[in-house]
Amino acid sequence: MAKRIALVTGGTGGIGTAICQRLCQEGHQVIATYSSAAKKDVALQWQAEQKELGFVVEVVCMNVSSFESCAEAAELIRSEYGNVSILVNNAGITRDGVMKKMGHDKWDAVLSTNLDSVFYVTKQFLDQMIDANYGRIVNVSSINAQKGQFGQVNYSAAKAGIHGFTKALAQEVARKGITVNTISPGYVATSMVMAIDQSVRDQIIAQIPVGRLAEPAEIARAIAFLTAEEAGFMTGSNLAINGGQHMC
Ligand code: CAA
Repeated sequence: MAKRIALVTGGTGGIGTAICQRLCQEGHQVIATYSSAAKKDVALQWQAEQKELGFVVEVVCMNVSSFESCAEAAELIRSEYGNVSILVNNAGITRDGVMKKMGHDKWDAVLSTNLDSVFYVTKQFLDQMIDANYGRIVNVSSINAQKGQFGQVNYSAAKAGIHGFTKALAQEVARKGITVNTISPGYVATSMVMAIDQSVRDQIIAQIPVGRLAEPAEIARAIAFLTAEEAGFMTGSNLAINGGQHMC
């Protein structure tokens, strides 16, 4: 298999870490992004930990909710490492709360980080993928895009938007050797899910037929599948990985 440059936004986070590790195992050169200069030390620490575990991952600062930051980071990546041919739009946040109590700030933060970002980041790398006649783009959505979730009008809307983006772009670049797919994880054992109040979380777990949260590696496995060279006929699709919590 050819060694490719893979970029994972939010790569230093819960699911992101597992994706980076898995793409390293697939033989790619992996670059993880982190969100702000203030988090550089944490990112370098994360990088050192990954190295100890045998995973060599580059780290680059990229605020995915800012077009300018994405453009700057993309320029640096091009000059330091080369052309990205695998892009995983994974960065995302939650700002949960019922609509009645949700301010504009929580709406904006989630829409810009989880949805605007998919345009901002992909825009930086699409032309080079078209020129190379090869690309693998995977956008990380959520079970809550399709089923909706009490307390997440912002998150559910942003993650649902990713499905439209994926299907439209998949059609535009299908003849250019580029696939664009979505994965929709259910509830995964990461700090994002652990931040949910325990009693609420227990109620959620009770609704998962498999009877537990997902492990991040179970999500990363789907990324490896979709980013493989042999996955060229799979585009505009969605892979749901949710322990049977939502079937459609
Ligand atoms: N459906 C219907 N009613 C519900 C409900 C549900 N799913 N959940 C709560 N309610 C009801 C409660 O019973 C309660 O009713 P009463 O006032 O009559 O008692 C009322 O709504 C208020 O509920 P809460 O006490 O929970 O309200 P809160 O303001 O304290 O908390 C919340 C609101 C923060 C949104 C909290 O409900 C919560 O954390 N929910 C879980 C949200 C969630 O699943 N987030 C996912 C984060 S991880 C992620 O997003 C990753 C991914 O992709 C899966």
